[in-house]
Amino acid sequence: MSTCQCHCNEHSTEGQVRAVLMSEHRVIERVLDAVERMLQSGAFDKAFLLKAIDFLRNFADGCHHAKEEECLFPELERTGMPRAGGPIGCMLHEHDAGRTCIGNMLAGIDAAANGDAAALAGVRSAARDYICLLRQHIQKEDNILFVVAENVLSARQKSQLLDAFERLEHGANHGDRHGKYVAIAEELARWNFSSSVAAV
Ligand SMILES: [Fe+2]
Ligand SMILES: [Fe+2]
Repeated sequence: MSTCQCHCNEHSTEGQVRAVLMSEHRVIERVLDAVERMLQSGAFDKAFLLKAIDFLRNFADGCHHAKEEECLFPELERTGMPRAGGPIGCMLHEHDAGRTCIGNMLAGIDAAANGDAAALAGVRSAARDYICLLRQHIQKEDNILFVVAENVLSARQKSQLLDAFERLEHGANHGDRHGKYVAIAEELARWNFSSSVAAV
């Protein structure tokens, strides 16, 4: 963990928990924008969607939501913030709703690629739902929950959280999973849909 020049714990952790999570939100938004671009183009690109779903499962869920669910939210609960009936429960519910959307996208993708109009409409609808859900979710976290977290967590808790983020990122043989998926996000952002199969 980096430290400020005076090496005080207070300054070294100030704003960093929010900054780490917000920087991941910006990467996720690159992919949301790319999926929206596909929807607006009228194209249906199975290869693109499978890569986007892989990103959403392994980066949005695996790297990012895991930091929130396994590290940040439990730490906030230790400060007295209740899980049920409050922002933590709401965020968890939205993570689950996002997973349902991803499952719905995946469920119809083969049939949609084979020209099944109902499946195509279902995949596009699930993708739209996911984009809308995640954009609103990210705004709530960036502007409310993470601000509250920076205010209620102690410098020691923030320092421990940053260490826990590192362990989560580099544990369980993940390798450079984070870097790999940031590169995939850029690939998706630059995807050319002009040669894709047009939607019916
Ligand atoms: Fe979240
Ligand atoms: Fe988040």
